[in-house]
Amino acid sequence: MNDRTEFKELSVAYDRAMRGPLRAVFGPVTLLGGAPSDLHLERLLGDARSVLEVGCGQGYLLEKALRQLKPARLVGVDLSEVMLAIARRRLRRRGETKWISVMQGEATSLPLRDTQFDAVLSMGMMEHLDDGLLLNFMREARRVLKPGGHLVAWTFSERHPIVVVYRGPAVITRRLPAYGRRMVGRSADELCRLAIESGFRDSGKAKLGRFFPFYSAVIATRE
Ligand SMILES: C[S@@+](CC[C@H](N)C(=O)[O-])C[C@H]1O[C@@H](n2cnc3c(N)ncnc32)[C@H](O)[C@@H]1O
Repeated sequence: MNDRTEFKELSVAYDRAMRGPLRAVFGPVTLLGGAPSDLHLERLLGDARSVLEVGCGQGYLLEKALRQLKPARLVGVDLSEVMLAIARRRLRRRGETKWISVMQGEATSLPLRDTQFDAVLSMGMMEHLDDGLLLNFMREARRVLKPGGHLVAWTFSERHPIVVVYRGPAVITRRLPAYGRRMVGRSADELCRLAIESGFRDSGKAKLGRFFPFYSAVIATRE
């Protein structure tokens, strides 16, 4: 199966999930695990004026970034049209569309011009990418960043319960939802190594909140 087919299947799986009962789970999980209340983006990215999130889902992290960083421009990109429709509805209801826009796109070929953003964020997306695709995503993040801009990204660690379940016996994992096929857990060291390999000037581990035994985070800077 090629990457296009894989991404198509993943977006169909997320579209389907968001039309069913799983939708009720995503928001709270995001707020607890991915964007917990003790995540302070302003300490990492205080003066970022333009911010992109890749794999923005329903837009929870974009809203947090808006409150904490008050940037002039926030853009979210996601594969899933259904996720994006929910994000647009939420942002409209909350009167946030003046600052935040979302668009359909794929992390390894972002539909965006070079050198536009001070910061690229990604939360809960990279676990879907194998190392080759993750390198492509990081190269894309670097391409759209301005010189001196930062990538702040976090993903499941090897200890995340979902990763552990997906490592289980084939007889069980074959029955799990298709979007779990590429559930990769990584340490912060691995993320730092991949960031340097994709061309970032430097990279470091980050501790972003209390749930971070289950998440690994990297902060990488473009030359
Ligand atoms: C677990 S959800 C997390 C969404 C959001 N960041 C949050 O925490 O609420 C993962 C999101 O990443 C998106 N995604 C996965 N792979 C992607 C890719 N290659 N390019 C763009 N979006 C992707 C999915 O469509 C989904 O909305």
